[in-house]
Amino acid sequence: MCGIVGYVGNQEAAPIILHGLRQLEYRGYDSAGLAVLDGDGGVQVRREAGKLLNLEQAVSQAPVTGAVGVGHTRWATHGPPSQRNAHPHSSPDGDLVVVQNGIVENFLDLRQELERAGYTFRSDTDTEVIVHLIDQHYHNGSAGDLEDAVRKALLRLKGPSAIVVLSAHHPDRLIAARLGNAGGVTIGFGRGEMFVASDIPAILRHTRQVAFLDNRQMAVVTAHGAVFKDLDGRPLAKECTRIDWNPTAAEKGEFRHFMQKEIFEQGRSLTDTLRSRLDFQRNAVVLDSLNLTPDHARRLTKLTIVACGTSYYAGLVGKYYIERLARLPVEVDYASEFRYRQPLVASDQMVLAITQSGETVDTLAALEEARTGGAFTAAIVNAIGSQAARVTDGHIYMQAGPEIGVASTKAFTASTTDLLLLAIYLGQQRGVLAEAESARIIRALSMLPGLAGELLEDALQNDRYRELAERYHTFYNFLYLGRGIHYPIAREGALKLKEISYIHAEGYPAGEMKHGPIALIDATMPTVVVAPRDHVYDKMISQVEQVKARSGQVLAVAHANDEAIRAKVDAVMPIPVADELLTPILAVMPLQIFAYEMAVRRGADVDQPRNLAKSVTVE
Ligand code: AGP
Repeated sequence: MCGIVGYVGNQEAAPIILHGLRQLEYRGYDSAGLAVLDGDGGVQVRREAGKLLNLEQAVSQAPVTGAVGVGHTRWATHGPPSQRNAHPHSSPDGDLVVVQNGIVENFLDLRQELERAGYTFRSDTDTEVIVHLIDQHYHNGSAGDLEDAVRKALLRLKGPSAIVVLSAHHPDRLIAARLGNAGGVTIGFGRGEMFVASDIPAILRHTRQVAFLDNRQMAVVTAHGAVFKDLDGRPLAKECTRIDWNPTAAEKGEFRHFMQKEIFEQGRSLTDTLRSRLDFQRNAVVLDSLNLTPDHARRLTKLTIVACGTSYYAGLVGKYYIERLARLPVEVDYASEFRYRQPLVASDQMVLAITQSGETVDTLAALEEARTGGAFTAAIVNAIGSQAARVTDGHIYMQAGPEIGVASTKAFTASTTDLLLLAIYLGQQRGVLAEAESARIIRALSMLPGLAGELLEDALQNDRYRELAERYHTFYNFLYLGRGIHYPIAREGALKLKEISYIHAEGYPAGEMKHGPIALIDATMPTVVVAPRDHVYDKMISQVEQVKARSGQVLAVAHANDEAIRAKVDAVMPIPVADELLTPILAVMPLQIFAYEMAVRRGADVDQPRNLAKSVTVE
């Protein structure tokens, strides 16, 4: 997903923009560029294909000076990664530049219309139609001023777009605008300086005071503040949000990769996730931001969870929690399926999105579908102020801090923990969960961060996972098996391995082995089993036997003190003994570490895996 950083103030813009773009690298990109207004009102543009380093070198070889500028990292949708397709894109006279995140779905029609009007295109991108449309409205008198020209151009676009416009005719300002769900536009408030960014980590070093643009909104940003309007030109009052993350939260620290840091900080992130949500006096869970009354909770007949990728697997875990503790039927659906299948949604239902970024286009579209059907909509979301947190009737923040690595780790354990909290909350509100049971689970939950810390500290202290990576990094196929609440953990473990090591892996319900996958088993196809001692442990052991009988190797996520399974398998990834409801949250961690070490051993780009983006804001 593209990254945008803008600056208007009293410092040199280029270093601030480049540092901000670095903080957004995790979003995935293939080229980068920036534009800065110099003291004479000229627009200086630098663009390079490839990594940010190329742009930094271009800027150091040909410096740009000025206190107003905008930068962009591009994740190619229309047109290959190249310098000519990198943003910013300029108007014919070079006085106007635009950067964009999103897609112009009607760009071909607009391009032909503009070519007929005499515009020459110099790139293959859809974005270039935006800058020429603004230029056309600005110069042909159909717009009162630049702001109006931007507004009129945006209203011609189909599809989601987040843009920032810089003009030599208005050297004291940037214009930012958002149309649909094209990823966030954050406005940062400094002292005598202002910032625009796709995401908070880009500007956290400079300010904690931010405001967010919603769909069909724009901001005229000068060094002394921002004026917010909707696309009809009506003024908007915007509240500032204070971001409490510490700036190092978006830094790697002593870890080699963001993903490694985020795996090993799950003891702390789970502490934050639980913070102010466990009421030991009342043996109750506190989820005020969900805005769900007891009466409404009692009237619910169904909960549908919609999500993508890792968040979808968290939803599968949530189904077990909520059906067991709240006695509420739960359906879990891929957001990309839900949004197009004309789902049966009604006002006595709740539709819950799970989304780390809060900006995933399929998940936001599924929420729109749910709202149209009259359901109560909610989101479990990590990114503060993101679209999912703002368009729903209620939300639960994951409170996991910024997750920078493309492969989601601490957000998964945060969202599964939030789902357990939600299950307790709904069980209490619906009067189906006994207080003694609530008290027991709440006490168990309070142990979770310590158990996670114990597991992760043990993993840090020995070479177990590096040794496993040494033994298995040359294999090209893995099967992951789990039963019951651990079946989704097997799915998530397989996704982790796939997306960062590029090894094919498939998560399967263990009971399905005989219905096909067992045909695959041989010495070249290792099997990972999630096999804590639970009510289906014996079934998992027989699965292990079946794999071993066919010369298959078995790696087991199992209780550290389980000597029986240790004697049967080729390797154990240990987890501490814990309440059965907490075990899936712990069991995913060894699979995260295993995938990480495999990717490192294979020399893969762990934090920015090929073809992937941290938040998928385009279909
Ligand atoms: C998970 O490691 C991937 N990065 C991806 O599957 C991700 O979970 C999915 O794109 C959903 O993202 P979201 O939680 O931000 O909506």
